[in-house]
Amino acid sequence: MQHIRLTLIGFGVVGQSFAELLANKHAYLKQRYSTWLTLVGVANARHGFIYRTDGLDLSLLLKFAREGRPLTEYHDVRHWNNAVDGLKDTVADILIEASPTNLRDAEPALSHIRTALSKRMHAVTANKGPGALAASELFTLAREHGVQFRMESSVMAGTPVISTIREGMAGAKITSLRAILNGTSNYILSAMASGRDYAEVLADAQAQGYAETDPTADVEGYDAVAKTMILAALVFNHPLRVEQVERQGITAITPEQVQAAIDAGMRIKLIASLRPAPGSDELIASVKPIALPLLTDPLARVDGAMNAISIQSDTLPEVTIIGPGAGRMETAQGLLADVLACTR
Ligand SMILES: NC(=O)c1ccc[n+]([C@@H]2O[C@H](COP(=O)([O-])OP(=O)(O)OC[C@H]3O[C@@H](n4cnc5c(N)ncnc54)[C@H](OP(=O)(O)O)[C@@H]3O)[C@@H](O)[C@H]2O)c1
Repeated sequence: MQHIRLTLIGFGVVGQSFAELLANKHAYLKQRYSTWLTLVGVANARHGFIYRTDGLDLSLLLKFAREGRPLTEYHDVRHWNNAVDGLKDTVADILIEASPTNLRDAEPALSHIRTALSKRMHAVTANKGPGALAASELFTLAREHGVQFRMESSVMAGTPVISTIREGMAGAKITSLRAILNGTSNYILSAMASGRDYAEVLADAQAQGYAETDPTADVEGYDAVAKTMILAALVFNHPLRVEQVERQGITAITPEQVQAAIDAGMRIKLIASLRPAPGSDELIASVKPIALPLLTDPLARVDGAMNAISIQSDTLPEVTIIGPGAGRMETAQGLLADVLACTR
């Protein structure tokens, strides 16, 4: 039985779901993987970082969160006012990073991950910032310290895209990929294809929790651009700056355009695309609405909040993965898969 100590930074929707998953799967993970996962540290922005060498009780932490009680009410723990200080002073094997995404400078996640890797802790994250803005630096830091940096959940939540490409398709040369990477915009476009109006569908998506109160990042394509930047760095080893990804959202799409596509046997989808430029080292990257043939393109038939990616390579002509692109447990599952990959 291997005993692995975890520190979790960010105890919001995803962090709490990860704790819940850990509690639910504790016995299964012991039996199936001979792995005993113990949460020793946890942090949020309001209450700082708490640490207990013998492990923290997951149900008690979740009860505190449900009841709006501060983490500092946990008895018999060491406490720091911020996560970086706590991380520096304590010992664990893997950092799970689930703080909010920031696409300007990737903080605070970038500091958390740098600190962990520099201490020879593996780091796994659901946060899009570090992978989009600093993947090369963090992979180098991880390699120098003999640990892993993984981010399965940052693209298509727990749907195994990154591990499939990097591990499952190891040795294949990826020649291009196209993907639907944002559930909210796909939900809206799918509903428009069944005759509904953009504004009405957006309000409905917000009411159902698919779309944020401020939907700009989703419908203007910024969220998909961040995921495209992660894929560029991880799949093509070619980090991009945000301005290198051509971006067009879905807000200007009219019902007439949607209907014209349907009449032509097509569906309009917000497609992220990456492919090397012929005869150069550059990558051509875009996120924009494209009409796809319904009969022959698997992405055309991916509806609702689902995400999908279609990967072309020299040895596998086309591999398509369809699955959820968000959701609390779906994201926690991606973190768990990364944690288990680090333990192997
Ligand atoms: N939700 C999804 O479906 C989904 C899917 C894929 C990826 N993600 C990514 O997962 C991450 C977490 O998302 P979420 O929905 O769980 O967000 P959330 O509910 O807002 O939770 C964020 C957590 O991070 C904490 N935090 C903020 N700044 C911090 C700091 N400096 N030090 C320590 N903790 C800090 C917050 O503390 P307080 O509680 O004190 O505010 C909160 O507990 C994001 O990067 C998001 O993009 C989410």
